[in-house]
Amino acid sequence: MGGNAAEFVVTAGPTREYLDPVRFLSNPSTGRMGFAVAQAAAKRGCRVTLVAGPVSLPTPAGVKRVDVTSAREMEKRAVEAVSAAKGKCVFVATAAVADWRPARCAAAKLKKGASRSMTLRLVRNPDILRSVSRKRARGAFRARLRLVGFAAETGDPSKEAMRKLREKGLDFIVANDVSAPGCGFAVPTNRAVFFMRDGSRVELPMMSKLELARRIVSKALEEDRR
Ligand code: CTP
Repeated sequence: MGGNAAEFVVTAGPTREYLDPVRFLSNPSTGRMGFAVAQAAAKRGCRVTLVAGPVSLPTPAGVKRVDVTSAREMEKRAVEAVSAAKGKCVFVATAAVADWRPARCAAAKLKKGASRSMTLRLVRNPDILRSVSRKRARGAFRARLRLVGFAAETGDPSKEAMRKLREKGLDFIVANDVSAPGCGFAVPTNRAVFFMRDGSRVELPMMSKLELARRIVSKALEEDRR
């Protein structure tokens, strides 16, 4: 491992937001993209912390894995990992974080009884990427931090990707149309466009998630050299 290699902190997978001890809200993210980024960064000799929601993937070699369940837990552990970094650090947010959680989690299993309907009140979860970005802006981290986000959209992702890049204060964003064939959840391939902070873009052909991960890691390290 090179002495001045960058550190990576990667969020991956879904989060689970429990409404009672046996039920939760979640999504079908498998974590594959984030695990591929962690693997590619470790192969480049970088130290990697992978903050993973509940997924059934093996931990890539040389990667420190921190398992979490909820968005709030993921935020706490991701911020801890970025806070611990010195030198250069790249934060890559691939997680499909649940935007909402039940306002309360019942202590005991909810019983349906005789009711014909039920209302679940949801409250907003933290935006992990935005909160890391705000902390960076306040000078809360020792490391020189690069922020990489993802924008998974249905249809042309460019407008939304550029909005998220700007609003979340990112260095670049990896955008893709998850409704296109070969893209999105639970497939081994992806087709993406990088939108850079300076307004440039890099359009990539369809490739495996591992190859895309290598390109993301290279781009993040290249940006870091500026
Ligand atoms: N993200 C995050 N925490 C959240 C939501 C999103 O860290 N609570 C990160 C994702 O990991 C991704 C980026 O923000 O890198 C964009 O996520 P996405 O779900 O596409 O966008 P949202 O911010 O949730 O916006 P919208 O609901 O408008 O699509």
